[in-house]
Amino acid sequence: MSDTREERDDQPRRSRWWGVAIVGFALVVGLGMFNIGRLILRPKPEVVAVEQAIAASPALQQGRDLVTKSSDCMRCHTMDLDVVGPGFMTIAKRYGDRPDGVQYLAGKIREGSVGEWGRVVMPRHPQITQEQAELMAGWLMALKPSAKSDTDKR
Ligand code: HEC
Repeated sequence: MSDTREERDDQPRRSRWWGVAIVGFALVVGLGMFNIGRLILRPKPEVVAVEQAIAASPALQQGRDLVTKSSDCMRCHTMDLDVVGPGFMTIAKRYGDRPDGVQYLAGKIREGSVGEWGRVVMPRHPQITQEQAELMAGWLMALKPSAKSDTDKR
């Protein structure tokens, strides 16, 4: 009687441990993948700094909306990829340290540009006022990852 019960108990017990081991293994793998995903998706600190600077400044937000919503800029530009024109982050990296960067880029936005990045022409934007162009350029300059710490140093 007791012998047969032991035999019967033995079977399920062994497979139960297998089950526990498999579930445990799956949990470890799942958590590991979740952690890798979290690390990949976590915004970089310098990007967070840029976003915080923009969130704190109405002028920067105005500039962003002028570029991304109220004009034709996004037809040729994206934030980070070079499409027809260079990506805005790339532009910010190139001019972010220029003391007259806002004036310079505002001028380019209104007057158009060619030859700085290639042979494709950026058209003029005469309908954009000087004030709007400066707001746009101010936002562009703020996209430079270390822009915040740079201004802190000065
Ligand atoms: C028809 C396509 C097109 C549109 C629309 C466009 N751009 Fe451009 N943009 C370009 C190209 C092409 C260049 C590279 C020009 C060059 O090589 O000098 C450029 C360059 C730039 C530059 C860098 C200029 C320099 O001197 O390095 C800025 C800043 C810029 N664009 C901002 C804007 C803004 C802001 C808007 C919207 C008002 C806009 N662009 C709309 C195509 C475009």
